[in-house]
Amino acid sequence: MLTVEQNEELTSVGPGTRMGELLRRYWYPLAFEQDFDARPAKSVRLLGEDWTLYKTPSGKYGIIGEHCPHRRASLTYGVVHDDGIRCGYHGWRFAFDGQCLEQPAEDDNTNFRNRVRAKAGQAQTLGGMVWVYVGPAPAPELPRFDVYVLDGVRDVGYTTLPCNWLQIMENSVDPHHVEWLHGYYFEFLGKTSGFDAPKSFQKKHMKVAFDEFEFGIIKRRMLEGHTDQDDDWKIGHPMMFPYGMRVGGQWIDQMQIRVPIDDTHTWKVFYTLHHPEGGTWEHQDRPVVYEFPWRRDDGTLITDYVEGQDVMAWVSQGEIVDRSQEHLGRSDAGVAMLRKMFKENMSRVENGQDPLGTVRTPHEVIELPCEKDKFGAGTAFTDQWITGGSMRYAPIRDELLALHRDAAAAREKAATSG
Ligand code: FES
Ligand SMILES: [Fe+2]
Repeated sequence: MLTVEQNEELTSVGPGTRMGELLRRYWYPLAFEQDFDARPAKSVRLLGEDWTLYKTPSGKYGIIGEHCPHRRASLTYGVVHDDGIRCGYHGWRFAFDGQCLEQPAEDDNTNFRNRVRAKAGQAQTLGGMVWVYVGPAPAPELPRFDVYVLDGVRDVGYTTLPCNWLQIMENSVDPHHVEWLHGYYFEFLGKTSGFDAPKSFQKKHMKVAFDEFEFGIIKRRMLEGHTDQDDDWKIGHPMMFPYGMRVGGQWIDQMQIRVPIDDTHTWKVFYTLHHPEGGTWEHQDRPVVYEFPWRRDDGTLITDYVEGQDVMAWVSQGEIVDRSQEHLGRSDAGVAMLRKMFKENMSRVENGQDPLGTVRTPHEVIELPCEKDKFGAGTAFTDQWITGGSMRYAPIRDELLALHRDAAAAREKAATSG
């Protein structure tokens, strides 16, 4: 249980807050490359602030505070140049770093112009997404995590959820919920709605472990009937500090991203890579992108798939869960550890240090540890993931299933003939 003040400290992401200052030390994806095909600029919100994200004619990306420093018109409706952006209202021109370079109606008043600087950050692409950094200079490297870099078929589901990002992160260090939410509750839903729910999630957690590593917390579980040689215990998977989770199965690897838009909204992304051994696919220039549903027109939540069930848990906790009313038990050890990690890293930033997960060295790819034989279910788990998990509503769901099955058949053929 936290005090009201402690809860506020952990969940406030705006400028000048302790958590907001910590979160401004990381890169965030905010858009897809295709968002800029039809228009060069897009309004986005990040960490409680409004921004204009834009792409220049030569293909460079920039991010600047949305409201023009002159009289606050939106720069999203501006004129994009190779060296920055110009406001559509009176033509003030801004460099990538936000410095005002021109004020057409001001008779070249350099004193005035030099004093005007819009807030600005940096932007670049990786894995088909546009990433931004809006914290203090020097910006760290954008970490090139494996799923964004490796070849394969990528599909990306996204939506905006009406809750604080931290309640989603706390779910990532809460292994026990799987048995209930995705096991018994799923079964109950199946029975009442007439579908077959998968049973593999019902295996009891015999023990769980949480180990700090350079990008967050490795979460491990030993399920009933498993040994310390099973992947879920031997390898586990990482909660990525401060806003992600890396999960995987046979030939399927995923990053779950939770971008704090503001205190009560989170941009939730499932970035999934399919790269089955023995499979063949055409090189994709950009991932297939789609919005995944989680709420019906009548306001009820869609819970017929694993992540829909998670969304139900996060959203039904309230916009910002009141942690002064909760009762943490021993099974919530991961949640307590994550809160402590946030507090420690707020202090690190206040002491002028880089927080956990900061990358300062240029690199090609960062490989993350992640189990393959998830829940000891082998490739059956991959099927389940596509049909009843985060790809349930993917427009290429059938193609993904076929890719995995064809690859499995090819592997089997190779094994029997070799
Ligand atoms: S409001 Fe932008 S130039 Fe006037
Ligand atoms: Fe879950």
